[in-house]
Amino acid sequence: MDAPTRTPAAVTRARSVERLVTGMPTSDGAGVKLVRVLTHDLQRRLDPFLMLDAFGTDNPDDYIAGFPDHPHRGFETVTYMLEGRMRHRDSAGHEGLLGPGGVQWMTAGRGVIHSELPEQQQGRMEGFQLWLNLHSKDKMREPWYRDIAASEIPQFGTDEGATVRVIAGDSHGVAGAMQRETTEPLYLDLQLAPGARFAQPLAAAHNAFVYVYRGQLAIEGQAVPAQRMAILANTPGSDGVVLAAGPTGARALLIAGRPLGEPIAQYGPFVMNTHDEIFRAVEDFRAGRLA
Ligand code: CO
Repeated sequence: MDAPTRTPAAVTRARSVERLVTGMPTSDGAGVKLVRVLTHDLQRRLDPFLMLDAFGTDNPDDYIAGFPDHPHRGFETVTYMLEGRMRHRDSAGHEGLLGPGGVQWMTAGRGVIHSELPEQQQGRMEGFQLWLNLHSKDKMREPWYRDIAASEIPQFGTDEGATVRVIAGDSHGVAGAMQRETTEPLYLDLQLAPGARFAQPLAAAHNAFVYVYRGQLAIEGQAVPAQRMAILANTPGSDGVVLAAGPTGARALLIAGRPLGEPIAQYGPFVMNTHDEIFRAVEDFRAGRLA
């Protein structure tokens, strides 16, 4: 793929780390082992993001059962695969195979029932699922879905040793594969060479976090080791973040978005604004009206 080299973005008042978070090992679906990095208690702090799961294993027992049919309403799911293959099918008639480096962006809207099942018996399965909330006016919109192949995700390099895949939003003048109004999500996958530096402008009011999944990096002198999420402070007047890779380099996700500032009511796979709306979602699901 064409990977132009970009000059560094100017960040003069960088955000610091407010807090380091260690994910919670858990299992979901039919017994898929994963680490819940962004947990329920951080939903308000990291509005509009509701959840981030990281999965990564060489053992098929940890993933083979997958995620059989289950519903969603009221938000979007963004699945990013680093390794392995997952087959998706939903009640709106969509089907797709998610492969290494690919992204599946699904807007559940008023409701879908879908399955996410591994399309392999062995080998490594690694990736992430992010849940992005929808504004109240969009929660009951028609479901939508897009499979984004690895080759469709814009990528660029910098002369400071960063390789950047722009899944959503905009970085160094490169438009990502997805753009979203209202929450304006930024979703970058960063590969930093040993000692590399990467600067990304961010609006101070946007909530932002960095999840390091290989190696180590530092943010304003604060070390962020692998398997840790750094929540970035919303320092008034700040204009971005600067990441500095450690001696072995780093791979990390940088995710940011504009908070919705609305009430969040969640019951499992339904995320609405009020308990009444949740009650209706459960009723609709039970009555077969959701999909
Ligand atoms: Co799902």
